[in-house]
Amino acid sequence: MLRPTFLGVLTALVAVVPSTLAADCTREGLLTAARSYLAAQISGKTTELKLSSNFTYQQNNKVSDIAKGLLSTSYKIDLNRSTADLVACASYTMWISSSGSKPYVVGTQIRHRNNNTAEIAMIDTIAATTGDLFFNAKDTQKYIAAEDWTSLPAASRPSRDVLKKAGDAYLDMWTDAKAADTIPWGTNCERVEGSRLTKPCGGQLPHGGSTKPNGMRRYVIDEEMGSVDVLCQFDSLGNMPDSHEIRITDGKVKYVHTITVNGK
Ligand SMILES: *[C@@H]1O[C@H](CO)[C@@H](O)[C@H](O)[C@H]1NC(C)=O
Ligand SMILES: *[C@@H]1O[C@H](CO)[C@@H](O)[C@H](O)[C@H]1NC(C)=O
Ligand SMILES: *[C@@H]1O[C@H](CO)[C@@H](O)[C@H](O)[C@H]1NC(C)=O
Repeated sequence: MLRPTFLGVLTALVAVVPSTLAADCTREGLLTAARSYLAAQISGKTTELKLSSNFTYQQNNKVSDIAKGLLSTSYKIDLNRSTADLVACASYTMWISSSGSKPYVVGTQIRHRNNNTAEIAMIDTIAATTGDLFFNAKDTQKYIAAEDWTSLPAASRPSRDVLKKAGDAYLDMWTDAKAADTIPWGTNCERVEGSRLTKPCGGQLPHGGSTKPNGMRRYVIDEEMGSVDVLCQFDSLGNMPDSHEIRITDGKVKYVHTITVNGK
């Protein structure tokens, strides 16, 4: 009876292994879903997106109909980059369309339920265009295309906690006079706000002044990239839909990107 028992054990193993893997949120699964989002944006058709039955589309902080949003129009994508959060099972994708008649700089967080990257539970987009804060898609593209976003070696990755604290401290600078001093600014760090470049980025910082904290914060934290993206409502200066992304390398802030929607 040795043979059947051995086969029985094998069968049990085969049955257990895939379900264990299915419970994990993987980088490849997240990035595959992010690529499907970019493909949908290029075609201007949402039909090929695998949306979950309870799916939410949000654009510029308002829940809305995906069929009437940015994804219903085709855009040429001139630059894109994605990061992955395996704990929240979410991704962040930045894309720029600079060559068409209606340029865009967009930050999108995609969320999955139950670690199931085969289905998209939420697409949450901040989309800036002509008339928005410091908007110039060609300049933004030029600065961001020149950046180095290679994965960090395992030993020098900032923790989730460090990344979340940096993202929060950044958004707290407008209401907390001491927040700026808690951020580990790198000496060769670059800040691209809309299309405005500030280098080093630790200069010209706010030190309080507003009583309204920036709200509606949603995070995508990627330790491998050393990055945090926070979508929010920029209440400290008026209720503007906003994305702030920070990259930390060698323990110091290296890049800051902001997308802020204040146009009509
Ligand atoms: C989702 O995946 C992450 C990363 O692999 C894991 O830490 C977490 O426990 C998983 N959660 C569930 C509900 O399976
Ligand atoms: C659908 O998703 C929304 C937002 O994530 C949540 O509040 C709601 O409970 C969900 N409904 C169901 C039936 O799962
Ligand atoms: C996104 O960027 C990568 C390189 O970073 C490129 O290989 C890919 O073709 C781009 N995707 C789209 C849809 O433009």
